[in-house]
Amino acid sequence: MQQNETPLFTGLLEHANKNPIQFHIPGHKKGTGMDPEFRAFIGDNALSIDLINIGPLDDLHHPHGMIKEAQDLAAEAFGADATFFSVQGTSGAIMTMVMAVCSPGDKIIVPRNVHKSVMSAIIFSGATPVFIHPEIDPKLGISHGITPEAVSKALAQHPDAKGVLVINPTYFGISANLEEIVSIAHNYEVPVLVDEAHGVHIHFHDRLPLSAMQAGADMAATSVHKLGGSMTQSSVLNVKEGLVSAKRVQTIISMLTTTSTSYLLLASLDVARKRLATEGYELVEQAVRLAEKTRNQINNISPLYCVGDEIIGTNATYDYDPTKLIVSVHDLGITGYEAEIWLRKEANLEVELSDLYNILCIVTPGDNEETTSALVYALKDMVEAFREAVGSNPKLFAVHVPDIPVLAVSPRDAFYSDTEIVPIEESAGRVIAEFIMVYPPGIPIYIPGEIITEENLQYIEENIEAGLPVQGPEDDELKTLRVIKEYKAIK
Ligand SMILES: Cc1ncc(COP(=O)(O)O)c(C=O)c1O
Repeated sequence: MQQNETPLFTGLLEHANKNPIQFHIPGHKKGTGMDPEFRAFIGDNALSIDLINIGPLDDLHHPHGMIKEAQDLAAEAFGADATFFSVQGTSGAIMTMVMAVCSPGDKIIVPRNVHKSVMSAIIFSGATPVFIHPEIDPKLGISHGITPEAVSKALAQHPDAKGVLVINPTYFGISANLEEIVSIAHNYEVPVLVDEAHGVHIHFHDRLPLSAMQAGADMAATSVHKLGGSMTQSSVLNVKEGLVSAKRVQTIISMLTTTSTSYLLLASLDVARKRLATEGYELVEQAVRLAEKTRNQINNISPLYCVGDEIIGTNATYDYDPTKLIVSVHDLGITGYEAEIWLRKEANLEVELSDLYNILCIVTPGDNEETTSALVYALKDMVEAFREAVGSNPKLFAVHVPDIPVLAVSPRDAFYSDTEIVPIEESAGRVIAEFIMVYPPGIPIYIPGEIITEENLQYIEENIEAGLPVQGPEDDELKTLRVIKEYKAIK
């Protein structure tokens, strides 16, 4: 099969064109049994391929026909030995990666600022996390990835770890020297699992950071839906065999996946792969050029600062993705949150994310001069508006990271323990049973199983006083914390 073919999408169309009389689910039966307003809006084309795994349409759980062909083409396009389609986002693919290498009690080396799906998988598998601090960028107030040096140190102390998980590139588009990290881990025969949620496109253009598969990683959970043109919730899990087994991965992804897999999502992965494989270079090139032009225009709007390739050159900032526009609004005297709200209300413009100092805007093949000019004009107007009406003037809050507390019991044991609620001021010394995070920089202060310390309680207080969102605990006023119950001796 060739990369310009789409076996799954084409197979679905051929099936739908036969117009079979359907006595199977979905019960809306090509839309005729559905709410008419929704049907009219979605359209009969989409509903005609909203099908499930009947005989001619293969089965994601045991692929041997059109899904297998589509996955094989994807593996070729991504340079993997095997590719698995995920209809449960990159979260589902990440959980599969962790559970494919970790059994109860196994160690896994992870950055402290991992996505919640990694922590979920650690709880499900019963693994013990060995945390590495990500590097913090004090100027931007964001965290980058982990360095090869930190991975080297972690593996020297924990050579029995079952995996090293790396976020590459980060949400902000920054990447570490992944090739070096892979080489260090492989010296210990430890597989490297990459959270590539923000990097599906990087594989298809040589100006972008190396993709996980190019860097020799063993698995990568890659959001095709985020930046690769497929529908929301559709991702891939790429595997290089050797240190991990594709068969094991198939078993685990199947255990975590619905039996009613959406063919709309699957078909959208098939066509996105075709477009990336056959036109990816030109499409990414166009997005990079547009982003570069926009970056220059934003940097002419004083006092905004849009990060460029000057960010490269530290141990944690080996390369970056120029299609990500990180715009620091700090010198305008407002927070990124205020900028996001202003742009929503006054310019009908939605950003990807905002934090204390920055907003993040992404440029993709879906953009053109018209959309990027709208962004530039909106930012100009925003600067004028805040020059007159001064924002909250955020102090240059020194973003630092909390100490990583001692893990007393595994996150899984903490999660399943009997718990009780105690006032926060009486919680020091107890073992926490919930998560507490602060954003930015998006690093957990506590995960279940860690011992609460006075220092980190102080850190929480400082963050609340600075107006930063402290998230996670059941009591969002943070007056109480859920901790593991202590049973007193019976007299
Ligand atoms: C770094 C990172 N990893 C994983 C995910 C999960 O991806 P998905 O939403 O496709 O499940 C996200 C989502 O935003 C993310 O930012």
